Amino acid sequence: MFKGVLFDLDGVITDTADYHYKAWKSLAEELDIEIDREFNEQLKGVSREDSLDLILKHGKKRNTVDDDTFRKLAEKKNDVYVKMIQSFSEEDIFPGILSLLKELKQHHIKIALASASKNGPLLLEKMNLTHYFDAIVDPSSIALGKPAPDIFIAAADAIDCPISSCIGIEDSQAGITAIKKSSALPIGIGRSNDLGTDISLVSNTNDLTYDFLTSTWENNKKKLTQK
Ligand code: BG6
Ligand code: MG
Repeated sequence: MFKGVLFDLDGVITDTADYHYKAWKSLAEELDIEIDREFNEQLKGVSREDSLDLILKHGKKRNTVDDDTFRKLAEKKNDVYVKMIQSFSEEDIFPGILSLLKELKQHHIKIALASASKNGPLLLEKMNLTHYFDAIVDPSSIALGKPAPDIFIAAADAIDCPISSCIGIEDSQAGITAIKKSSALPIGIGRSNDLGTDISLVSNTNDLTYDFLTSTWENNKKKLTQK
C-alpha cells in the first residue's frame, strides 16, 4: 500500500490556479502580450520566473527585458497575486480535500506539500491546513522546477517514504510529468485533453477519497504485475 501522498497546492487544494492566471494576464496585458487559458496550461505548476520567461517568449519580447526589469515584473505579478489571496480562509479549500487529509491521517499515511509556489506556506496557514502536513518543501531549495521530478523526490525524502510508495496529486501538465519521472504514482485533477489518457484522473476534488486512492494504487499494482 502507498505510504505517502505528495500534494500540489494551486488547483489541487484550492482554486488559486485561476488567480495566478488572472495576475499573469493583467501583467501580460500591460506588456501588450496576449495570453489565453489554453496558453496558461503551460504555466500551471511552473515557477514564477519560468512562467514570466514563457510569457515574454510567447510575446517575442524576451530580448527586450533586462535582468532588473525581469525581477521587477515578477515582483509586480506576485504583488497582484498576494493581494488576491489575502482573504483566503478555510472556506476556500476545494471540496473533499479536508476530508481526504483527515482520512489519510487516520490511516497513518504521511502528507507532504510539493508546490512550486513560494506562497504555499502562507496559503496553508490561511486555510488552517498547515498541521496536516508532515513536510512542506521549500521550492527555492530545489534547483530544477517542474516538469523536473526534483520537488516530488524531495517531498518523499522529507516524509521518509520511498518515492515509489507515494502518490502525487497534480492539476498541471508540468506536475504530472514531474510525478511520472519521479516514479511516484500520479493522480490528475482535470481533463484528459490537458493531462493525458494514461493516468488516473478526477474532474472534481470531491472524488479524491481514501478509497479512490487505494483502488487507484491497487489497479496500478495489478497492471504492473500483468506486464
Ligand atoms: C505553482 C503554480 O504552484 O506555483 C504556478 O501552478 C505558479 O502558476 C508557481 O507560477 C509559483 O508560484 P508563486 O506563488 O511562487 O509565484
Ligand atoms: Mg497546480
